[in-house]
Amino acid sequence: MLKIDRISSRYAQVQVLKDVSLEVSDGEVLGLLGRNGAGKSTLLKSIMGLVEVNSGSISMDDVILSELPAHQIPKNGIGYVPQGRRLFSELTVEENLKMGLLVRDSSKEVLEWALSLFPVLKTRMSQKSGTLSGGEQQMVATARALCLQPKFLLMDEPSEGLMPSMIETIFETIEKLKNEKVGVLLVEQKIEGTLRVSDRIVFMENGYMREESNPLALAENPEPLAKYVGVKAHAT
Ligand SMILES: Nc1ncnc2c1ncn2[C@@H]1O[C@H](COP(=O)(O)OP(=O)(O)OP(=O)(O)O)[C@@H](O)[C@H]1O
Ligand SMILES: [Mg+2]
Repeated sequence: MLKIDRISSRYAQVQVLKDVSLEVSDGEVLGLLGRNGAGKSTLLKSIMGLVEVNSGSISMDDVILSELPAHQIPKNGIGYVPQGRRLFSELTVEENLKMGLLVRDSSKEVLEWALSLFPVLKTRMSQKSGTLSGGEQQMVATARALCLQPKFLLMDEPSEGLMPSMIETIFETIEKLKNEKVGVLLVEQKIEGTLRVSDRIVFMENGYMREESNPLALAENPEPLAKYVGVKAHAT
């Protein structure tokens, strides 16, 4: 289990997260929703050790992640696909994926497994990542994170800037990850797809964790969607 226990996080003097708690069970897909600036990316960065956590703790099973330096966190089985993808654009697809393998000395079989989820990448291995389409870059970023055989994968708006058919591919991938027992903490703006793939939904607002729900409950009463995301479910 990935457990975030009453953390507060800040950038220099700016306190962004306030007393946030959250648990992601093994193999669970948890959708994290909230308006722009709510603190969603900051929460993912806090888990990855990229933002100062000034109180509370983050742990995975017996490992207290919030006491580790940032470079140790992926080694413990937490994959991260940041907002905006962050590939090494001058490196080829294959080189990017091999960077992922290096993190945990993963074997070639792991690369085969990651590629089996994105077969189209097999035809792109020698292409420079910077020349890929947005959707292909998203696949490489996700495949790279999978190369460390994560127990949990943190995805920050993977559908951002993609055309509808690619967005569908991303959500299908998340469903596949669920079948592979990878826990996913998914930050998204695409409400409909998020509701489809998530086991539970949590809402953040202004640095606070406000409410927890699930897709079924939200289908019956979409009021939290209107309140925290500003949309009606059927409008997305
Ligand atoms: N490096 C930084 N320094 C100072 N403040 C920051 C920094 N990064 C983010 N913030 C602030 O922290 C708050 C939360 O930002 P965050 O990126 O976590 O929001 P978000 O929920 O991911 O929003 P979005 O949906 O737009 O991606 C915002 O007010 C933002 O301006
Ligand atoms: Mg963000």
